Amino acid sequence: MSNFHEIRLRTRSGEYPIYVGRGIINYLPKFMDSLKNSGKCAVITNKVVGRLYGKFVEELLSTKFKVYLIEVPDGEECKDLRVVERVYDELITSGFDRYSTIVALGGGSIGDLSGFVAATYMRGINYVQVPTTLLAQVDASIGGKTAVNHPKGKNIIGVFYHPHFVLIDVNFLKTHDLRDFKSGLAEVIKYGVVLSREFYEYVKVNWGRILDINSDELLYTIRRSCEFKASIVSMDEFDREGIRALLNYGHTVGHAIEAYFNYELRHGEAVAIGMCYEAKVSVAMGYARESTATELCSTLEDLGLPFKIPEGTDVDKLLSFMRRDKKAFSGRIAMVLLRDIGSGVLVRDVPEEIIKEVVMRW
Ligand SMILES: NC(=O)c1ccc[n+]([C@@H]2O[C@H](COP(=O)([O-])OP(=O)(O)OC[C@H]3O[C@@H](n4cnc5c(N)ncnc54)[C@H](O)[C@@H]3O)[C@@H](O)[C@H]2O)c1
Ligand SMILES: [Zn+2]
Repeated sequence: MSNFHEIRLRTRSGEYPIYVGRGIINYLPKFMDSLKNSGKCAVITNKVVGRLYGKFVEELLSTKFKVYLIEVPDGEECKDLRVVERVYDELITSGFDRYSTIVALGGGSIGDLSGFVAATYMRGINYVQVPTTLLAQVDASIGGKTAVNHPKGKNIIGVFYHPHFVLIDVNFLKTHDLRDFKSGLAEVIKYGVVLSREFYEYVKVNWGRILDINSDELLYTIRRSCEFKASIVSMDEFDREGIRALLNYGHTVGHAIEAYFNYELRHGEAVAIGMCYEAKVSVAMGYARESTATELCSTLEDLGLPFKIPEGTDVDKLLSFMRRDKKAFSGRIAMVLLRDIGSGVLVRDVPEEIIKEVVMRW
């Protein structure tokens, strides 16, 4: 077993590996040897991913475990307390104990739901993340944030709970929808924009190759993204020091756009637009030079990512969504601003008039 990279994520709660490679799903049973396991394992997945990979993963694990395939609704719909209750029910009926294991097989929504179930079932059981979308591979599966939604808000109910390991097999992306894939790449560029100009340049220059699922450039890009996320999480595990918040660059405006347009845009697309406007706010607030914002927006445009808020958007309504952002404090809008490409800073009080002016001017 040598054709994979192992990244160690160290937090105060413990340390665990993130394995990144091509075709490494075959090592899943071997990696699971490190778990104290009583022999039962539930693979939580949905119809789409289950149809593609469910049987394969089930057979792979059957060599060592009694495997239960649990199918939940596709997409965001599975992040629901009623689904959580149904999964608990299946686990209890199947006799799952404190030493049984949950394998999350799917995108970020499956990961968030499975992590929440694993954290709360019998006060916490083993769990493993096998992310199958780019967004989940470079972001959602790493860092221990689990959550389900409440009818009044997204990700409102959740806990921090780390998996025992994360297995990232790039080959899963072969069946990934191209629009979802490109949307995930917006989060990848974000790591460069906010943390490393070098990585930003790498993604920009190698974009054509990165879009090829079979390329080494894509594998490298995913690995570097995981390293960025792991190092930020290890510095600010519970998102309280303003460090992990840096990864929220583009998200104050991005989340507002997602909500304003009733989630018709992909998350990464809204974040790409958000990155462009937040760069402009950085200029207006005197943090960055005009050339920084111009460069970033034209890069996003060149890469074929959206970068502009549609004409006719009601700015006041957009601002009302921004006030509900999780970073907001006492009604004041917080935003990650850029000093330059590769250097972000969390600013806790961004005047609404400035945001409004930036949005209206564009
Ligand atoms: N916990 C975190 O830190 C964190 C971070 C970012 C996002 N998230 C969460 O992640 C979720 C979004 O994740 P997502 O973008 O992966 O969406 P998703 O999980 O809804 O997956 C998108 C679609 O792709 C399908 N799919 C998954 N893998 C596939 C594959 N290999 N081939 C074909 N189809 C496949 C899914 O069934 C789904 O229909 C949101 O709920 C968000 O809140 C969590
Ligand atoms: Zn995001």
